[in-house]
Amino acid sequence: MKALVLFHSQQYGNTGKMAEAVAEGLREAGCTVSVHNANEERYPITEYPEYDMISIGTPDYFSYMAGTLKTFLDDWYIQRNKPGYTGKPYGLFLSHGGGGRAVDSLSLFSRLGDQVGEAVISSGSPSQRVLDDCRELGKKLAMST
Ligand SMILES: Cc1cc2nc3c(=O)[nH]c(=O)nc-3n(C[C@H](O)[C@H](O)[C@H](O)COP(=O)(O)O)c2cc1C
Repeated sequence: MKALVLFHSQQYGNTGKMAEAVAEGLREAGCTVSVHNANEERYPITEYPEYDMISIGTPDYFSYMAGTLKTFLDDWYIQRNKPGYTGKPYGLFLSHGGGGRAVDSLSLFSRLGDQVGEAVISSGSPSQRVLDDCRELGKKLAMST
């Protein structure tokens, strides 16, 4: 099984730590995992059909998802009627600085397929509990297919 962990992390690396924990859970459950920070490079959308499942993580930017992940959704929307773009299980995680209202914008990802578990939501530097929840999310996602 192939899994994609797509995230944006920039300010402190908080979302990146969560992404690594989700990736660990997926690997522990036997998946081959690609981890992509959309802050470093726009996600190459034509690679999306290769994956059986996806996990997406964003920081809260002005009570919305990071722009790079909105760009991913825009790119996905244009491709969505081609084979391999819809119906994937997905899991979500969010890092915020104390507000966290970007949680509402996460509903846009429901177009991708079926959400697995609850979104893991973290304030500031991710605690051990948050990282454990991220690892569990990865495992749950791997077991969903
Ligand atoms: C441009 C910008 C806008 C932000 N807006 C919000 C916000 O509206 N609400 C909030 O709770 N945190 C906000 N934050 C804080 C980040 O969501 C938070 O620091 C997050 O953990 C950063 O993740 P990262 O270290 O992975 O980049 C903002 C940060 C930046 C850089």
